Amino acid sequence: MNSKRPSVATSALSAPFSPPDDIARMTPALQSTHTAPANGKRWPVAILGATGAVGQAFIRTLNGHPWFEITEVAASQRSAGKRYADAARWLEDELDPAVAALIVTTCDPQSVKSPIVFSALDSNVAGEVEAAFAKAGRIVLSNAKNYRMEPDVPLVIPEVNGDHLALLTHQRQVRGWTGAIVTNANCATTVIAAALAPLHEQFGVAKVFVTTLQAVSGAGYPGVPSLDIMGNVIPYIGDEEPKIESELGKMLGKLENNAITHAPIVITAHANRVAVEHGHTACMSVGFHRQPSVDEAIETIRNWKGFTPSLGLPTSPEHVLYLHEGNDQPQPRRHVMMGRGMTTSIGRVRKCNMLDLRMVAMSHNVVRGAAGGSVLNAELLVATGVVAETVAQ
Ligand SMILES: NC(=O)c1ccc[n+]([C@@H]2O[C@H](COP(=O)([O-])OP(=O)(O)OC[C@H]3O[C@@H](n4cnc5c(N)ncnc54)[C@H](OP(=O)(O)O)[C@@H]3O)[C@@H](O)[C@H]2O)c1
Repeated sequence: MNSKRPSVATSALSAPFSPPDDIARMTPALQSTHTAPANGKRWPVAILGATGAVGQAFIRTLNGHPWFEITEVAASQRSAGKRYADAARWLEDELDPAVAALIVTTCDPQSVKSPIVFSALDSNVAGEVEAAFAKAGRIVLSNAKNYRMEPDVPLVIPEVNGDHLALLTHQRQVRGWTGAIVTNANCATTVIAAALAPLHEQFGVAKVFVTTLQAVSGAGYPGVPSLDIMGNVIPYIGDEEPKIESELGKMLGKLENNAITHAPIVITAHANRVAVEHGHTACMSVGFHRQPSVDEAIETIRNWKGFTPSLGLPTSPEHVLYLHEGNDQPQPRRHVMMGRGMTTSIGRVRKCNMLDLRMVAMSHNVVRGAAGGSVLNAELLVATGVVAETVAQ
């Protein structure tokens, strides 16, 4: 189990960055040699929706980050004008005193100046607010559903489809933005897409039947009333099944001629809320275009490194995927914090009586499925020069 923060070469902030061949080949528009701002310090970042469950996860993820420094926190009118410590009901671990003392602002580009903006906004407001920031030249890393399925907006897990970031050039042309929006998938889709990515690359996923067991933190704070969820399973999560069913094909799709050709996967999802604090589990049956044996599937998952391992991104876990051997694994309580919440755990890869194989996957919905995923996207944008290029315009 890897619970240590991945080490980062201290030279990463000052040394020129050379993308490895695969990135250079697949993201020609993203090549650059810049990693740090002109003053050599860390990139200032803002968090929109900083008081909520995902906003707080951003603050924890960014604490001590070698490339990013939280300089601004923003939320609704209810919170604006208060010290962060007074506006937020802080949920976990220690709150960094420097962040506690920040004054919460409203979510508009006149009040918030940072070039990198992490958005943990409710989808009711994310649409307009995120567009205003992108128009104002900021790079927005969004967790909301509003832009995920827009054809010119990348929906990215760096290790799975980091090459889709090349779509940003087209996005800027189409929208006339000097900034950009990059989105994360829904937290349940993130588990499924990461687990299936290596198998899709090798054998072509054709069909997926998935049942999810989703943690209460996926509903934000205060979320599901305790009397509804204690000792219970709720077999419905509003809007979740359509999100899983549409987002997977985009993420596992191919970027060709400024558009993503969705992977033609037939998928049916059953989403359930369960009495687990953090960690979404996905039990899947999968059919392939070329059927692998159980051993081939296991080897493929074990050997997969994904798209970004050689980039030294600070939030990259040592194991993007971790294959558990025990028949009773993975379990959210035991494994959700592997790789500081960034590892996707997989287990029980076995034959299926209906499709080809079945398996279980689980990851941290608020870290890998939200804040940590966004931070990793931002790191890839820094490493490939997009942030420096945007600020220099
Ligand atoms: N929880 C997860 O596992 C997860 C995973 C992936 C994606 N997401 C997505 O991430 C986003 C945030 O989720 P969450 O779970 O953190 O929700 P949450 O706990 O309800 O937090 C919502 C945040 O949005 C702010 N907000 C609400 N209305 C606003 C307005 N009119 N103007 C400006 N700010 C406003 C709130 O500020 P105040 O405190 O001032 O009201 C709060 O900071 C959602 O779009 C959600 O779908 C969540």
